[in-house]
Amino acid sequence: MRSILFVCLGNICRSPIAEGVARRLIEEGGHTIAVDSAGTGSWHVGETPCKHSVTVAKNHAVDISHLRARQVKKADFSTFDIIVALDESNYRDLKALGCQNLVKLGDYGHEGADVPDPYFFDGFEGFEHVYTMIESCVKELLKR
Ligand code: 4NP
Repeated sequence: MRSILFVCLGNICRSPIAEGVARRLIEEGGHTIAVDSAGTGSWHVGETPCKHSVTVAKNHAVDISHLRARQVKKADFSTFDIIVALDESNYRDLKALGCQNLVKLGDYGHEGADVPDPYFFDGFEGFEHVYTMIESCVKELLKR
């Protein structure tokens, strides 16, 4: 595996965390795997990750503040070795776009569970759980 693309809905809450965590784990492991993230939707293109995602990542020594949201494009399906959907709805949307090299993050140690969408969470609560789940799944993904 030489490149990974994480995809959620807005590319401002969950997939930027996954990108940042994966980049750190890959560096720590001394591997060379390219990582990126994108959203199925276009609403937040060009925006920084949401403030709670930046904070929770920072609390774990992962800086994602420089990331900017982009929308997934069909060319990504051939550019990246593997496309990783954060939840079932992202998975279905990507399948509908013709993505074949597609997996779901929750399949790596979390019995296929969705990474919950924190966009509508009330405040910071919940982001720690989202971070922990993402980190655990990404660790497992990188072992394969
Ligand atoms: P994400 O969260 O998919 O984890 O980036 C969301 C961000 C924005 C929206 C939904 C989810 N939105 O509806 O704008």
